[in-house]
Order: sequence, then C-alpha cells, then structure tokens
Amino acid sequence: MITVALAKGRLADKTMEILAACGYDCAALLAEKTRKLVLAEPSGALRFIFVKPSDVPVYVEYGVADIGVCGSDTLLEADAGIYELLDLKFGKCRLCIAGYPDYAARRGDTLRVATKYANITGNYYHNKGENVKIIRLNGSVELGPVMGLSDLILDIVESGSTLRDNGLSVLHEICAVSARLVCNKVSLKIKSEEIKPLVAKIKSAL
Ligand code: PRP
Repeated sequence: MITVALAKGRLADKTMEILAACGYDCAALLAEKTRKLVLAEPSGALRFIFVKPSDVPVYVEYGVADIGVCGSDTLLEADAGIYELLDLKFGKCRLCIAGYPDYAARRGDTLRVATKYANITGNYYHNKGENVKIIRLNGSVELGPVMGLSDLILDIVESGSTLRDNGLSVLHEICAVSARLVCNKVSLKIKSEEIKPLVAKIKSAL
C-alpha cells in the first residue's frame, strides 16, 4: 500500500480525479463528504491522508507518507529533503509581490512585507540586498497593506480577484506555481515496484 499525502481542498480533489482516470477506485472517496483524515482506496493499493498544504512536505520527508501532492510554492518554502517526481500542471498560479502601486511614497525606512512564505520572502530580498521586516501571516494576507500592517505582500495570485477587490496590484512576479508529485527518498527505493508504475500511470493521465 502506498500512502499519499494530499493538501486538503482543490489539489486533493483534482489529484483524486487523476487517480480515478488511472483506474484507482476514487469515485466513492470523492463523493464521500467526511471529516475523516485517513481514507483507504477500496482496492487497498492506496491510502490517503489529508493535511494542511504546508504539511505535505513534512509528512513525505518523515516517511509517514510515501508520496504527496502540493504546490511548488509550498516546496520552495519548505526546502524539504524529498524528491519532486512530476509537474502535475494543475493548481496553476503565480507567486508575486503585491501592494498599492504608490507604496514607495508611503513606506518607512524599513520595508514591511506580510506573507505566509517567510523563507521565500527572506531569500528574495536577501538576493536583492534589501533589509526588510517580514511579517508572518497565516491567511488573508492582502489585509496587510489594506490595514497598514505592511507595505507589501508576497503571496500567490490565481485569478487576481482578491488583489483587485482590495485595490492592490501585482508589482513583481517571482515565479509560476503548479502542483507537484513528491516522494519520500527511502520509499522510492523500497517501494519502487509500486511507486514507479503509479508515476507512469499519472504521467500518461495528464
Ligand atoms: C489564496 C492566496 C490569496 C488568494 C489568491 O488564499 O493567499 O489570498 O488565494 O487567489 P485569487 O488570485 O484567485 O484571488 P486562500 O484562498 O487560500 O485563503 P487564505 O487567505 O486563508 O490563505
């Protein structure tokens, strides 16, 4: 049995749809409205655990899950010791710096950046040689500039509607983001007979 860590929400649903297209019996699991955090696929080939997106690399790195699906933004932030096997090409969005276009006129001496991605933000400004104050938030990051908590945000932008509806704009795009299939390093060795065919099936279903 392969244990699969999925980020609760859209990435999990889309992953199960792809696995259903690969012949796994995920239809009942997709239809089931349950708060269970561990679900077994009826054939017994797969077992799913549902975790917060940022926890997918943690479960995979520690080998509690053999494989997992999460965004490349999460992987960049976590910098975990895991293998990235496939770009799944869904869950597409962009990691961006955003704020009010005239933020420079309002900022103080130290630029304040609100974000869920403290490591990415730190690296980005370190590479620019700019000293910034990183303000860690866990959600609704756009409120930072709106309420004067920060000058800018570093966050994902998908449709752009959260920025638009709050009067903010993309000021710089850092990178494109998409869902990735990741794998525990030991699992890839000891369960390669199960994992490699699964990866091949997923690849052909994309
Ligand atoms: C994410 C992200 C943005 C928003 C972007 O938040 O942090 O706030 O989606 O999407 P959009 O460009 O389509 O508007 P999420 O909905 O995951 O909730 P959160 O703010 O609680 O993290």
